Amino acid sequence: MVCKKDFLGRDIISINDFSREELEYLFGQTNKIKQNPSKFFHSLDGKIIVPLFFENSTRTDLSFQMAITKLGGRFLDFDINTSSINKGETLRDTIKTIEKYEPDAFVLRHRQDGSAQFVADLTKVPVINAGDGKNEHPTQTILDLYTIRELMGKIDGLNIAIAGDLKYGRTTHSLVSALSNYNNCNIHLFSPDFLKFPKEKILEHQDSIQISEHGLSELEEVIRECDVLYMTRIQRERFPEGFDGEQEYKKIVKSYHLVPEMLKNVYPHFKIMHPLPRVEEIDVRVDKSPCSYYFEEAGNGMWTRMAELYLILGGKNE
Ligand code: NCD
Repeated sequence: MVCKKDFLGRDIISINDFSREELEYLFGQTNKIKQNPSKFFHSLDGKIIVPLFFENSTRTDLSFQMAITKLGGRFLDFDINTSSINKGETLRDTIKTIEKYEPDAFVLRHRQDGSAQFVADLTKVPVINAGDGKNEHPTQTILDLYTIRELMGKIDGLNIAIAGDLKYGRTTHSLVSALSNYNNCNIHLFSPDFLKFPKEKILEHQDSIQISEHGLSELEEVIRECDVLYMTRIQRERFPEGFDGEQEYKKIVKSYHLVPEMLKNVYPHFKIMHPLPRVEEIDVRVDKSPCSYYFEEAGNGMWTRMAELYLILGGKNE
């Protein structure tokens, strides 16, 4: 049986760090907090988080700030992009110094795959991966799964379409890994040819879930059979140097644009999710459709992160 103390002092590096039972426990804790937030307002009094955001962020950064603040703790006002890293100090020395100030957790976002594990190996302070390069974004997946469960009442057996940049989109990598913990999910992947989901990751999961790959032109037809469409943006900033990404981007951008007309024949319960930011892949007119759920999904990020911090930092009993 999973219990509260199983989470104490843990890192969140990969979604694979959590069993299905642990994820369910986290969702249960999220529900308790979401239903009665004021009961938890002082549960992390005095706890301090140090943000290490090397990459831009709106939702992850602010929802962690809101989460710790609502629980009574603090998120330091520290911008790593104006730190002594710019004088040539290494990430290692930066971490080794900050840990001497005895923070309660680090939240790290970095362009390098594996950076969160690298930092976690340097320090005993819990490290939360807020996105490491194209690798993983586990706290996004926790909020995505929580949202799917909230909408559908279950995760087992769902038909889920995942579209966009599946090569560089770290949220899609963590999501597919997590779904492989559930039973009989059917995953439909939609991407341009040059941004396909990594082959090795498909091989890794193919025994536990059904995965099929499609071109973007098949999206409208296949979502008629799906419960959820998880859209993502094209991660242009991750295209390698020397690669003519702009040309390729221009080629697909017109065809990769979800409009309300494409939603005519979907199931009544069908929902569209997106980790956001949205760029051009979802027409703003879709926001009015009862199928759109991406802003509610973003809202859940604060509740799930409150639950993560409450459990990892040893929140006082309700
Ligand atoms: C995502 C990320 O950073 O990977 N954003 C987020 O945290 N909600 C998705 C993205 O940037 O496209």
